[in-house]
Parts: sequence; C-alpha cells; structure tokens
Amino acid sequence: MSSSRRPKRLALLGATGSVGGQVGDLVLRHPDRFALHSLIGGHDANALKLVAQAHPEAHVLLAEPAGGDRSAAASAVERVLTDPEVDLVVVAVSGSAALPPTLAALRAGKDIALATKEVLVMAGDLVREEMRRHGSQIFPIDSEHSAIWQCLWGERREAVRRLILTGSGGPFLRRPLSTLSGVTVAEALAHPRWKMGPKITVDSATMMNKGLEILEAHVLFDVAYQDIDVLVHPQSVVHSMVQFTDGSIKAQLGVPDMHLPIAVALSYPERVPDVVPAPDLGAIGQLTFEALDEQRFPAVALARAAGERGGSAPAVLNAANEQAVALFLEGRIGFTDIVALVRRALAEAPAAGSMSLDSLLSADRWARARVLELAGEGSQRTSSKVRT
Ligand SMILES: NC(=O)c1ccc[n+]([C@@H]2O[C@H](COP(=O)([O-])OP(=O)(O)OC[C@H]3O[C@@H](n4cnc5c(N)ncnc54)[C@H](OP(=O)(O)O)[C@@H]3O)[C@@H](O)[C@H]2O)c1
Repeated sequence: MSSSRRPKRLALLGATGSVGGQVGDLVLRHPDRFALHSLIGGHDANALKLVAQAHPEAHVLLAEPAGGDRSAAASAVERVLTDPEVDLVVVAVSGSAALPPTLAALRAGKDIALATKEVLVMAGDLVREEMRRHGSQIFPIDSEHSAIWQCLWGERREAVRRLILTGSGGPFLRRPLSTLSGVTVAEALAHPRWKMGPKITVDSATMMNKGLEILEAHVLFDVAYQDIDVLVHPQSVVHSMVQFTDGSIKAQLGVPDMHLPIAVALSYPERVPDVVPAPDLGAIGQLTFEALDEQRFPAVALARAAGERGGSAPAVLNAANEQAVALFLEGRIGFTDIVALVRRALAEAPAAGSMSLDSLLSADRWARARVLELAGEGSQRTSSKVRT
C-alpha cells in the first residue's frame, strides 16, 4: 500500500458488538489503512463510551437512545452514514434493525462491508435493486460468504456449478436428540469454535444460521437454491467452497477468527498482511466433512423452503426467528420451540403482496406478533427493532 494514500474512512454500525469490536481492533492495528469516521451503537451508551475512548477522532451516536426520539436518532444515523467523508459503511448490527440504514447507505452510493445477514434474508431483492440503481457494492463479512467471494475472484459466473457452505454443527452436533428440548441458554451460548454475539450463537446452535446463510448466498452470488449445499465440518477451517463446471472445487481455509474475513472486506481489493496466523494443517491433521442431519437441524430445510417460496416468506422466517430467539434468551420458551414457532408462523403467513420496504416491514411485524401469540406472550410485546 502506498504511504501517500489516506486511510479508508469507516462508518461503523454496531460498534459495541462482537464484529464491531473486531473492526475497531483492525483500525487500531492498521492506522495507515483504516480510520473510524463514526461509531454507532444501539442502546448501550456506556458500552459506546468505552469504545469511543479508543477512537477519539470518531463521531459517536446511538441509534436507539433510551427515552430518546427514535426517528430523530434514525435521521442522525442516516446523515452520518451518507456523509461524503465516509468511504465504506460497515454494518454489524444484530438483526433486521440494520435494514433501513443499510438501504439509506446504498441509495447514497456507499459501498458496504456487511456482517448482518438478516438484511439480505429479509430484503434481498430490494437490496439488489438499490445496488444496481446506485452502483454500490456489498463486501461480505460472514466467514462463509467471504470464503465463497474469495473463491470466485477471477472466475466467470458461467463456470460456477454450486456453492458449498460449511458449518461446524455447533454445540449440539452429537448431543442425543431426545435431550435437545432441555437445552439451557448457557449451553446454547457455548459455541465450540466461534465467539460471537448471543443471537447468532443461538442461530448456530439451531443451525438456523446456516439456513439464513443459504438465503444470503443466493442474494449475494445469484445462485439458485438447489445449487447451494451445506456440509458439516466440525473443525471450522474450510470456511466454504465453490464447485466449478470442470469438476474443480476451490476452498478458502483459515483459522476460525472473524478478524480475517473482516479484514478482507475492509481492505478489498488489497489484503492486509499478518491478520492471523495461517492454520497449521500438519498439526490439525484431519479435516472432516459430513452430510447435514436434517432431523437434528430442521431449521436448514425450513429456511431453504422459505427462500424458494419467496415473496415475504424470508422476511417472516427472519422476524419469527429473531422473536423466538429473543424469547429463548429470556428463558420464556425452550430450545426446540424456536424452530417450531418459526415453522408455524411461516405456515400461517399471509400470501405476499408487492415486495416494497413497507410490505416487508409489515410482514416482519406480523411474524413477531404471531410468534408472541403462539408462545402465549400476547401481541403487545415484540422485539421489533425495525423502525417504520
Ligand atoms: N459475531 C460474529 O462472529 C459474526 C460472524 C458472522 C456474522 N455475524 C453477523 O453480524 C451481525 C452482528 O453480530 P454480532 O455477533 O457482532 O452482534 P452483537 O455482538 O450482538 O452486537 C450487535 C451490535 O449492534 C448494535 N445495535 C443494536 N441495534 C442497533 C441499531 N438499531 N443501530 C445500530 N446498532 C445497533 C448493538 O448495540 P447495543 O448493544 O447498544 O444495542 C451492538 O453494538 C449479525 O447479523 C450476525 O449474524 C456475526
């Protein structure tokens, strides 16, 4: 990298989270490459203040200030993200609250490094349309999609036969099926390979995360659902693969550390040196792969079916899952209730109308309310963070 070039200025949405913290690390380690233009948190002012101490140059704001005016806060967030000084917007919010600010940034022609898969699951067509109209790009942060993206560099689209997403199988890969209904919150949050925020960690335990990733891959790489497979790979060293028409398979390998895919997205098309040590394959010895057990992990087929159904079904899947995971984390439903509630909400979801932002948000609200009713929690209390 030439020393005369100024650092890339990042607006970071989700600054206090697991991915957000690792973005902050990379900025501190590489001040010649990256600078923080702004740090945006959700509701936790103290956590944001702590993060801001390490980045005194950044603008700091909360998207959901306690007792504050949410629509004024949303406008302030949009103003910051669309500031001409911002070179790249990093979206690392947990869940669909990321959708409105992501659409605003795309409309301003900003490129986005995207961790929040829920945005693509919920509103893939809308996001693709805004990218096309405004010439903005999305660089994936999710490790599987980063792997596929890297495997596709320099390849022709017609040469791609299928995508193979790998997943560790989470903490319950070998646990007796009959005991899954008794899984505790602490057990679901103990992921064997990755340290992540609570929502994605529970999604990894149900493997809904892999289901959401199928929909994410479909949107990002424009590959049909039937050409996206899942393989269980407990070591989490092969982050995903692409099979080509000639029978070749390309894979990307790395230690399970999110700093690497984050650095790839932030620095594209360059690579940052020495982000993490390369995996010591001799010491690891064996990399194993196994077919997905659909009885153990029914969320994957459920998500794929919602993707194939299209319309508002992916938004219903996503919102029902967010609400059910929130209920599980609060100890109000059991572990196996999560996927059961999502399945019921999907089965009952009204047929989709036009896929405008309004209709997607209304499908999102309907699904959250329905999950609460089904769980016996009443319709007045939802975890919706999506502003209308
Ligand atoms: N963690 C990983 O290793 C990993 C890997 C792959 C993909 N992802 C994806 O990355 C996303 C973030 O995951 P995470 O694990 O980093 O989540 P997390 O640790 O729960 O952090 C979420 C962050 O979003 C903030 N936030 C909440 N609502 C917001 C809003 N309306 N506007 C701006 N910020 C808001 C939170 O702030 P408050 O706490 O103040 O509300 C927090 O800073 C998820 O979509 C996840 O699926 C994560």
